[in-house]
Amino acid sequence: MTAPKKLFIKTYGCQMNVYDSERMAEALGASGYIPTDTAEDADMVLLNTCHIREKASEKLYSDLGRLRALKAEKPGLKVGVAGCVAQAEGAEILRRAPVVDLVVGPQSYHRLPEMVAAGGRQIDTEFPAEDKFTLLPERKALRGPAAFLTVQEGCDKFCAFCVVPYTRGSEVSRPVARLLDEARGLVAQGVRDITLLGQNVNAYHGAGPDGPWGLARLIRELAKIDGLARIRYMTSHPNDMEDDLISAHGDLPALMPYLHLPVQSGSDRILKAMNRKHTAADYLRLIDRIRAVRPDILLSSDFIVGFPGETDADFNATLDLIRAVGYGQAYSFKYSARPGTPAAEKPPVPSEIADARLHQLQALITTQQRAVQEAMVGREVHVLYEKPGRMPGQMVGKSDHLHAVHVADPNGRIGQLARVRVLASSSNSLAAEPLFGIG
Ligand code: SAH
Ligand code: SF4
Ligand code: F3S
Repeated sequence: MTAPKKLFIKTYGCQMNVYDSERMAEALGASGYIPTDTAEDADMVLLNTCHIREKASEKLYSDLGRLRALKAEKPGLKVGVAGCVAQAEGAEILRRAPVVDLVVGPQSYHRLPEMVAAGGRQIDTEFPAEDKFTLLPERKALRGPAAFLTVQEGCDKFCAFCVVPYTRGSEVSRPVARLLDEARGLVAQGVRDITLLGQNVNAYHGAGPDGPWGLARLIRELAKIDGLARIRYMTSHPNDMEDDLISAHGDLPALMPYLHLPVQSGSDRILKAMNRKHTAADYLRLIDRIRAVRPDILLSSDFIVGFPGETDADFNATLDLIRAVGYGQAYSFKYSARPGTPAAEKPPVPSEIADARLHQLQALITTQQRAVQEAMVGREVHVLYEKPGRMPGQMVGKSDHLHAVHVADPNGRIGQLARVRVLASSSNSLAAEPLFGIG
């Protein structure tokens, strides 16, 4: 018998890529590849790339430089580039980097085994008509009690700064029956917490038994699965927060009190230039409606600072919006001009100004995040144990609000939904003690 070949996948970017990497590992598993943790140990290295900002896509070429050195020592090594840079740059990668054997776009992962078997240098960045997920092997990889499930891919919104509509294509929703099967399969393997993924997840409109279903209806059906305790979804666009999805937050206990709802800016002028199609006031009204049904919901957002044309007044409007909402956490980025997007044509804000704004915005978010965490101290919360902590007798997991929680619980087991009391808050996590005899 020949020894199994080893596969190392390095994943950048969003959760969608994390999910895709798992599915690629499964697809190649069927061709005899087993996972390994280092490139040095691998027979094939796949880089699952991100194109969202310049820094993210530059990482590809620095990694390829290192792999060239490795391949010089190990000539049999296969190197593949997957993900959004593969989609955006395609054959240019093969031209620029002779070390690369395979370039595969996000819609073609089901073709990986064929491409590997064919040998030589291969590229596939088509957007095929068939659903790649149907063509991938059945889902089995399992990392713990929390899992991702991609329900929707692509985006039709065309925000002026963003490459996603070009790298992931237009919106496609997976059919309801397949998602229910995949979710039931995950729960049968011990998963208790599922995060539904999509670049524009709340625009989900998959084929159901009686016509298209929206995200709220899908979530209601998933919530009936015995053993599935928690459901989340990301990332959402404010304009697709339909009434039934908002009400689901009020009446579905399994739908967790956490919502990532990116606003990007608080200035109407900039929102318009970004092609976001909503105002700051629209967003604030939406937040009020969500909080009316679920007052304790933890809100999260993405922000871009230094978008072309952003003035001090525009930036101050963003700070005002942040103060008005009160976020539990948020991601913020300095604008990065991306080739092919409309905003890239416009004169940039000076880099030092954008840096200073980013710094100021992040300081405000940190203050809000700390306050939200501090407010948890003394409260009883549920934590789903995902792994042992670094200290002996410690378990680590997430609360309903997606806070990382360290619990001193020598009897704790992975997959247990424990009731705990929060004792302290540190920069990025909470510390808690178990409440025995309950939950
Ligand atoms: N679909 C999601 C997220 C897409 S990408 C949404 O609509 O919000 C994740 C985040 O990256 C975006 O929300 C945005 O804040 C940031 N981003 C996208 N393009 C960017 C760019 N060109 N420069 C800086 N940040 C960017
Ligand atoms: Fe990009 Fe999100 Fe806008 Fe779509 S909605 S273009 S993914 S930022
Ligand atoms: Fe990056 Fe592609 Fe995700 S560009 S953020 S990996 S959709």
